[in-house]
Amino acid sequence: MAKTVVFVLMMVISLSFLWIANVQGKTSFIVLGDWGYNSSHQAKVAKAMGEWAEANNARFVLTVGDNFYNEGVSSLTDPLWNTLYRDVYVDPSLNITWYACLGNHDHYWGNAIYQVKAHQTVDWRWYMPNLYYTFEIQDHEGDQVTIEFIVADTENCKSKMQMKWMKKAITRSSADWTIAVGHHPVLSSGKHGSTPTMYSSSSYRKAMEEEKVAFYFSGHDHSLEHISHSNRPTEYVISGSGSKLYDRSEESLQDVVDKGYTSEFFESTPGFVGVTIHNNVANVTFVDKGGNVIYWFLKENPRAAAI
Ligand SMILES: [Fe+2]
Ligand SMILES: [Zn+2]
Repeated sequence: MAKTVVFVLMMVISLSFLWIANVQGKTSFIVLGDWGYNSSHQAKVAKAMGEWAEANNARFVLTVGDNFYNEGVSSLTDPLWNTLYRDVYVDPSLNITWYACLGNHDHYWGNAIYQVKAHQTVDWRWYMPNLYYTFEIQDHEGDQVTIEFIVADTENCKSKMQMKWMKKAITRSSADWTIAVGHHPVLSSGKHGSTPTMYSSSSYRKAMEEEKVAFYFSGHDHSLEHISHSNRPTEYVISGSGSKLYDRSEESLQDVVDKGYTSEFFESTPGFVGVTIHNNVANVTFVDKGGNVIYWFLKENPRAAAI
């Protein structure tokens, strides 16, 4: 009898350690785009996000812009803060920091500044210290892995200053993982398609691929998509279906193919992307509004692979 009790106790203790190691060594987050629009999809996506965040112990939400339709927020007391944000993303598991990125709709009438002014004030979760910024996440005690996010304001990517900042931030990053974030997709087979200024010459794309940036997360096209290149390190992930939907464009797809890239997955369905990073491997999961995993892939940290 005593032996059985000791055995059970030992099992419980070792399982607890395994569980703690498992949770501590991981960083999970949600990528949500083009979401601040009151539709029947928005509430369902919010519910699915809450469930995923709880199941995966999500540490933060990363928005990829078009946070408030149609013209951003016009003040710190704009009712849209409640109707499109606070009243919708109510699951307790979404009571985590929201690192926010600006989209073209957020910029109307110079309104983007109100999302910056709202930084950790209008709602403690809202994190936007500037129009564009970087932040670093340190993994829990487990792995000691650092992940740097470079959050660009791509509505201004025609401006030389913004392009210069983005390139500098990418080349300067010395974190274990470097991840770039912006509203406009560098590559997309959706309605808007790829963004020429970000793709071309002394470009954002080139800097990301040279510096082994693992992911570029974007929105703007209202779909979920994964684009990759067989011998380039950056994965292009679009999470733009937080509320609205666009179909694929055959012309945009042809352009992606002509550039030598492959659209590994495309779906015009409401949803979001969930990411879990554990040491040098990331698991990227595409989830629809019903909470179903509709696609996933694993990515090895290209920086670690190069060592
Ligand atoms: Fe949008
Ligand atoms: Zn947009």
